[in-house]
Amino acid sequence: MDAYVKMDFDELKDKKTLIVYYSRNDNIEKIAKSIHKQIGGNLYKLEPQEPYPTNEEEYIKRIKKEKSNDDIIELKKHPSTLDYDVIYVGTPIVAHSSAPVVNSFLRTSKLSDKIVLPFSVFDSKKPIPEGLYRLKRYAGGAITKNILLLDKNKPETYDLEVKSWTSNLHFTRRELKRLNEE
Ligand SMILES: Cc1cc2nc3c(=O)[nH]c(=O)nc-3n(C[C@H](O)[C@H](O)[C@H](O)COP(=O)(O)O)c2cc1C
Repeated sequence: MDAYVKMDFDELKDKKTLIVYYSRNDNIEKIAKSIHKQIGGNLYKLEPQEPYPTNEEEYIKRIKKEKSNDDIIELKKHPSTLDYDVIYVGTPIVAHSSAPVVNSFLRTSKLSDKIVLPFSVFDSKKPIPEGLYRLKRYAGGAITKNILLLDKNKPETYDLEVKSWTSNLHFTRRELKRLNEE
């Protein structure tokens, strides 16, 4: 069995970091900013080329259509992943899974030599949908770790939760070897 090795917080911080996220009501943005404050790197908010409707019903209708068509959503700007080692990817749960713009970003990015660290928020009153875990599959080829899931109703805990998450990432020796080879 391949043993896990903890990555030092400072070592993680030293890596070239991109934080990409989509956020409609700012909860994901709060986590993204907390990661940025503690880790550094570049912060990037994903937006669709064609803006989402402000009306909630129309918004959910469009999201459902994008999901059922399995569309690749044209982004306003597609950040390049080439110059980064670690990519934090934040998505809200929308209609039982990750946001189509985030899925599209992952599906159209070169990630095979990257660490992809996903994060999201949950509502303690709702079950966490299975669909959220498809996010890791969209990052195919990347070294991914478990999704950091924070309680939407406890934003005051975000800084500590992010610190704890980023201080306790474990990698197999094989993963570390792969990262060092790329
Ligand atoms: C249109 C819409 C659909 C949502 N669908 C779900 C869902 O299926 N499951 C869930 O747990 N939360 C759902 N939520 C709650 C969001 O995950 C929550 O509002 C979260 O804070 C959104 O992140 P943001 O504030 O960064 O936009 C939904 C919210 C919206 C606006």
